[in-house]
Amino acid sequence: MSDATETKLKAGERDPNPGAEKGGPQSGVQNSGQENGPNDGLLRGFWYPALESHRVNGRELRRAMLLGVPLVVGRDAQGQAFALRDSCPHRGIPLSYAQFDGRTIECCYHGKFKVERIFAESFPCEEHDGYFWVHIPGPAARGEVPPAPRLPVYSEPYRIVRLSADLPCHVDHGIIGLMDPAHGPFVHQAWWWRSRRSIHEKEKVFEPIPNGFRIRAHAPSANSAFYKLLGVYGEPITTTIEFVLPNMRFEEIHCGPRWFSSRTTVTPVTASHCRIDFCAAWNVFRWMPFMVQLFSAFGRTFIEQDRRTMVQQAEGLKHNPHLMLIDDADRPAKWYFQLKAAHLKAKQTGQPMQHPIPGPVTLRWRS
Ligand code: FES
Ligand SMILES: [Fe+2]
Repeated sequence: MSDATETKLKAGERDPNPGAEKGGPQSGVQNSGQENGPNDGLLRGFWYPALESHRVNGRELRRAMLLGVPLVVGRDAQGQAFALRDSCPHRGIPLSYAQFDGRTIECCYHGKFKVERIFAESFPCEEHDGYFWVHIPGPAARGEVPPAPRLPVYSEPYRIVRLSADLPCHVDHGIIGLMDPAHGPFVHQAWWWRSRRSIHEKEKVFEPIPNGFRIRAHAPSANSAFYKLLGVYGEPITTTIEFVLPNMRFEEIHCGPRWFSSRTTVTPVTASHCRIDFCAAWNVFRWMPFMVQLFSAFGRTFIEQDRRTMVQQAEGLKHNPHLMLIDDADRPAKWYFQLKAAHLKAKQTGQPMQHPIPGPVTLRWRS
């Protein structure tokens, strides 16, 4: 199915009635320089990775920022992670300046708060996969909070790496960059990945899943050295890619009992900044020395290529250009905006979410 229409997007302009009803891709792409607030295009009512676990030692209190909310993160005497608004409820001095003994936070201005009278705003907080995850509540009354997402792993032991990069743009740009299938041969040129000469016609089947979509399990791209390397196992290789609201891309590769599982999240720090966090675990090539170091080096190069491109893009976005989503290669980006709109509508009306993707769809592009 090819969508030949081009959609003009006025960056930073909000579609007053986004959604699937009009059938066309909807805008809602935001530019940098937005203020945080109800119209900032950020999704509340979800878990976000706030900080890497290794950043907090012992009783330390560390600062983090999610969706413009300043947080202070730490672990109590039992090792339980917690997150509070980084602001003393008395006079607003950041609690990250406080003393913490594992039990009580002693504000650096007037000492302990009287707990019966002053409550610091706290957020659900869990520690998994090497991150402090914090749940930022939606505008509606607090309902039951589901558990924080976890990276799927399939057997023990495995290796794991984490990488991150800050991006000077609205999370929407980070996410549509993340799901953009066409930039690979241009942005990520490398002998071990793919080159411009390797560009060819691609065709993949996408299908709806709760809160997102999936590229149906398929044999991976033959033009990538990494996948060629997996061929040494002599077993069929399949890969699955999923996107799930608000910001997660999962990619899994299975090759007999060997597996590789990764999760990339793009987290809104403020309305004008976001951060990519990439976390991958695997049991492939465990016999290879320095595999973690090697993979981290490759991953870092890869993410740096994306980051550099987004810094360049932010330069252009400052001037509020008209943007467009083109053909099948940008269909996932259109779905992202439609999913966001459908999610918000469901929250507003209390009705079940109307999934914008009716069923399996075949998309074609060159990359
Ligand atoms: S400002 Fe924190 S106790 Fe007064
Ligand atoms: Fe990329």
